[in-house]
Amino acid sequence: MLNTTVWNRWRYSLYAPVYDAVAQRTFARARRRSLNQVCWQSGMKVLLVGAGTGLDLPWLPRDLEIHASDLCPAMVKRLKDRACRLGIDVEARTMDAERLDYADNSFDVVVMHLILAVMPDPAKGLAEAHRVLKGDGQLCVMDKFQSDERPSGLARRGLNLLTSAIATDITRQARPLLDQAGFVIEQDTPVMMGSLFRALIAAKADHAEPRPAKPRPDEPQPEEPRPAESRPAEPGPTEHQSG
Ligand SMILES: C[S@@+](CC[C@H](N)C(=O)[O-])C[C@H]1O[C@@H](n2cnc3c(N)ncnc32)[C@H](O)[C@@H]1O
Repeated sequence: MLNTTVWNRWRYSLYAPVYDAVAQRTFARARRRSLNQVCWQSGMKVLLVGAGTGLDLPWLPRDLEIHASDLCPAMVKRLKDRACRLGIDVEARTMDAERLDYADNSFDVVVMHLILAVMPDPAKGLAEAHRVLKGDGQLCVMDKFQSDERPSGLARRGLNLLTSAIATDITRQARPLLDQAGFVIEQDTPVMMGSLFRALIAAKADHAEPRPAKPRPDEPQPEEPRPAESRPAEPGPTEHQSG
């Protein structure tokens, strides 16, 4: 199977210049709905893992301490440029999600958007997310997953040989992965292409306490302002995005 970290670094360096053209509009709504599921509080420390070009940044609330990391320097450079354009303070670093250079129990929220299906070993990425997340922290995942109830059939596994090499794994199951990493899923919402793409909020199993329920992200949201290149008072787009 051609899905290794070395290969991912190489291919995402190649994809970086065109990534926004492909992913910005496509995932805008799913990413907004995913981030809306987080119980945000002012001053929270958040880590974006496999942050890419920073397409999550416009959808984050104000008053967070934002850290971001990605395997590819080309992605990190674009993320820094975006943060600069948006006037957002972000501590961005090149880093492998399998070996995060952050202290244990240091983040209130860890966001993993479209990376668990890309990494060759998502269990290692989740183990690291678990380590750096505070006891009462929230893991926010948005990705494509095979149904938890039904493992992939032969045809899907065959197709996966191709998709995992050039884009993404299509056979991964969210619940077993998160269970094994010591997480409890608190929210699980289909956000795109039926239930192929799901937005999950998970807590550390050994600290899980009921959190106040948030409205489902598919409930009507207030109209969001679209000021150009300035940070929103509430989560909302600050760059031209559809969704
Ligand atoms: C599909 S993109 C998603 C980017 C971003 N999270 C988003 O939602 O637009 C996958 C990203 O994961 C990064 N990546 C792949 N393997 C990684 C690893 N082992 N550690 C950190 N980042 C990784 C790639 O460089 C790429 O930026």
